[in-house]
Amino acid sequence: MPDAPEALLAISGLTVAFGGVLALCEADLTVARGSVTAIIGPNGAGKTTLINAITGMVAPSAGKILLNGREITRLPAWKRPRAGVARTFQNLEICSNMTVLENVLTGAHRLIGYSALDSLLRTPRFLRGEAQARSMALGDLAFVGLAEAADLPAGQLPYGSQRLLELARALALKPDLLLLDEPAAGMNIRETRLLGALIRRIRDERGVTVALIEHDMDLVMDLSDQIAVLNFGAVIATGTPSEIQKNPQVVTAYLGE
Ligand SMILES: Nc1ncnc2c1ncn2[C@@H]1O[C@H](COP(=O)(O)OP(=O)(O)OP(=O)(O)O)[C@@H](O)[C@H]1O
Ligand SMILES: [Mg+2]
Repeated sequence: MPDAPEALLAISGLTVAFGGVLALCEADLTVARGSVTAIIGPNGAGKTTLINAITGMVAPSAGKILLNGREITRLPAWKRPRAGVARTFQNLEICSNMTVLENVLTGAHRLIGYSALDSLLRTPRFLRGEAQARSMALGDLAFVGLAEAADLPAGQLPYGSQRLLELARALALKPDLLLLDEPAAGMNIRETRLLGALIRRIRDERGVTVALIEHDMDLVMDLSDQIAVLNFGAVIATGTPSEIQKNPQVVTAYLGE
């Protein structure tokens, strides 16, 4: 076989049903390593369900999800960060009473190699691991521009910064694939522009492949290598931003006007 570049993520025939509602209906999607893919579509199209299926939070009734060539369709959710997937949520999920740094550490800890016994006995391995986790978490906070806020309670951050904190926590998992559910929601124009630049740096400097759900079309068109359009649970089109803007089916289904 010629060495065709293997896709990082390959989804085929993915179907998710909630009672009578088909949230996803034989959805197909391929995401190339090192790219930014935007997933767009009307409300209720199945975008969040797609991310939930990739992260193991809902169980598909049919179809396949391959990550790095490995099938993860039925891998338990808690094992998926180690398989290379991290995410942020449409509705923020941070612990507002913990400090900003502690929030990121909840991500970083999973990757540190000490056992419960190391932790109980405070062995050198545990102490080394803690120091390492802390310095990696501070690095991730600095990367999103929140280093100065490390010791503040997370709940005191402005909303836009809380979104960046969630992003830092996901980065702390050192994912191959980062899934962002409406990362710009609630951000002003300036914050959105900075977020776009940050996502590019995540791809270019960290080598992380990004798939994001987003309604802000300026951001989507500016940032994406690929756009996938979902409608009624199916991917009705994929292509570059200019291909998608010209696609008559997409214009009717979504872009409207
Ligand atoms: N846990 C659930 N139980 C029942 N129905 C659900 C559940 N989650 C999603 N649905 C339904 O599945 C469909 C797809 O929902 P989903 O949240 O994936 O859409 P979405 O594209 O993310 O929409 P939005 O743009 O509003 O976030 C909708 O009809 C929704 O009501
Ligand atoms: Mg959604």
